[in-house]
Amino acid sequence: MARINENFQKLAAGYLFPEIGRRVSAYAEAHPDADIIRLGIGDVTLPLAPAVVAAMREAVDEMGTDKGFRGYGPENGYDFLVDAIREHDYRARGIELEASEIFVSDGSKQDSGNIQEIFGAGCTLSVTDPSYPVYVDTNVMAGRTGEVDDQGYYGGIRYLAATEENGFMPGPPDEALDLAYLCSPNNPTGAVATRENLEAWVAWAKDCDAVLLFDAAYDAFIQDPDLPRSIFEIEGARDCAIEMRSFSKRAGFTGVRCAYMVIPKNVSGTTESGERVSLNALWGRRHATKFNSVPYVIQRAAAATFSQEGQAQTREQVRHYMDNARLIREGLAAAGFTVFGGEHAPYIWMRTKDGQSSWDCFDDLLENAQVVGTPGSGFGPAGEGYFRISAFNSRENVEEAIRRITRT
Ligand code: MLT
Repeated sequence: MARINENFQKLAAGYLFPEIGRRVSAYAEAHPDADIIRLGIGDVTLPLAPAVVAAMREAVDEMGTDKGFRGYGPENGYDFLVDAIREHDYRARGIELEASEIFVSDGSKQDSGNIQEIFGAGCTLSVTDPSYPVYVDTNVMAGRTGEVDDQGYYGGIRYLAATEENGFMPGPPDEALDLAYLCSPNNPTGAVATRENLEAWVAWAKDCDAVLLFDAAYDAFIQDPDLPRSIFEIEGARDCAIEMRSFSKRAGFTGVRCAYMVIPKNVSGTTESGERVSLNALWGRRHATKFNSVPYVIQRAAAATFSQEGQAQTREQVRHYMDNARLIREGLAAAGFTVFGGEHAPYIWMRTKDGQSSWDCFDDLLENAQVVGTPGSGFGPAGEGYFRISAFNSRENVEEAIRRITRT
């Protein structure tokens, strides 16, 4: 008899976005004429940039020739992409990385879910609350937590409340832990970490020999060049941090799939007997066993985002979404809503009206405005009473959504 991994049964609910999709489909079926505007899941809407499409076409043509055909690629990514990442995402901001410190992958969702595999079952961890559900759910599946309580907290996880008072950027805990997930610009609150915030985290991690798992999937949305885009801009982070970045939001790759993870050689964990082991080597072993590289065509497409045209075109896409974010922020604030985020991230974090619950707000907006957002409580108990609105849509839809929300 095949015994199941019973940790899966501890999961309190289905994954957030399919649950939203289910509710929206049910509504659409009952109201076939409803013109629903989707500002829920943070999925891009603009077409791929012309430079990206051209690079993909060229790569497809190459693959159709004897000379240009390629089979399995290098597990960690082709040199042309890894070098472009080193040059544009890191060297340009004063960070030197070795090529072997970068692992190209098919998405930050996968990376942020899979990275916990290389850590011991007994590792203690923190998440900010609310946070991207993948961090918690994958640790539940791995058996690193206890049961969920009535409020939605899993035993064994240290939740750090992200509140209006701390600008939705909680500092490190007052205890030693092994792992800490951080995300900046933040999904879901739209907050962004300052240099001081990250310095405090790095100091804490070094002090207690913890590893920071830094999710920078939204780095391209940072508008202020003085704000850190990478944890490695902070001194000491190369000894204690792993960073995840993605082409999904910055270049419209949600359906194309390409991302990467940086694990500096110095970051290590320990065995039971106290021996130091490089996490770069451990992840390299895992990656080589479970992953066969991102397709050549896709890596060519990702590399094209770093060409001059690619940079200009993808910057324009980000500008479009950030203009949407500003309109949502300003429109809702003018109508009396209390809103946060949206300045360095494509998400607006709205306080629900009159203490309405997050899911009631979701149902209310779906019923009365035909606008879909994401209930804050879906990202963790401290998200209760908030609602996330994504800026990923057309200008027309965003303007119409603001009109409808402010009328409800
Ligand atoms: C979100 O809406 O939170 C994101 O789109 C989810 C993801 O990137 O996987």
